[in-house]
Amino acid sequence: MTRILVVYFSVTGNTRLMAEAVAEGASSVADVDCQLMAVEKVTNEDWVAADGIIVGSPTYFGQMAAEVKGMFDVTERIYGQLEGKVGAAFTTSGGLGCGHELTNMSIITAMLVAGMVVGGTTKGPHFGPFAAGTPAEKDLEQARALGVRVAALTRKLFG
Ligand SMILES: Cc1cc2nc3c(=O)[nH]c(=O)nc-3n(C[C@H](O)[C@H](O)[C@H](O)COP(=O)(O)O)c2cc1C
Repeated sequence: MTRILVVYFSVTGNTRLMAEAVAEGASSVADVDCQLMAVEKVTNEDWVAADGIIVGSPTYFGQMAAEVKGMFDVTERIYGQLEGKVGAAFTTSGGLGCGHELTNMSIITAMLVAGMVVGGTTKGPHFGPFAAGTPAEKDLEQARALGVRVAALTRKLFG
């Protein structure tokens, strides 16, 4: 089985709704086992066990929330072991043009530093799905599509 981990941080529930949709998409791909976890529960062992990791954060001051950055900082102890794993990002923000792309890029930047493989897309938000406020159905659709895309790419590399 190809192992996908969807990690999210959410206080008011918007990013959690996106995370559930990402996990739904990933789970729909054959031979994929998908785990959905809140950032507070994730350990370095979970990172090492996964083949692909999708991280979602609210946009806080134009970047990932401190709780999510803190998780990346803890992975310094397993630096090198994430090389070649597939990564992707998604976010929710208060408004459009208020930092959501920067947030996805801040997550992707951390993944690239860890040696992970990040794929873009021509079919939707290039840097990862986003929603302004409560996700609308079209946002959840982008989130599901991300899950499918990452799971399919990860299966191709690791399956
Ligand atoms: C500390 C803090 C900083 C925020 N900074 C931004 C921001 O820079 N840009 C923005 O559009 N929204 C900002 N927001 C709004 C959140 O990104 C938005 O409400 C998000 O959907 C919350 O996600 P959650 O429901 O998963 O907790 C901020 C909210 C908080 C609490």
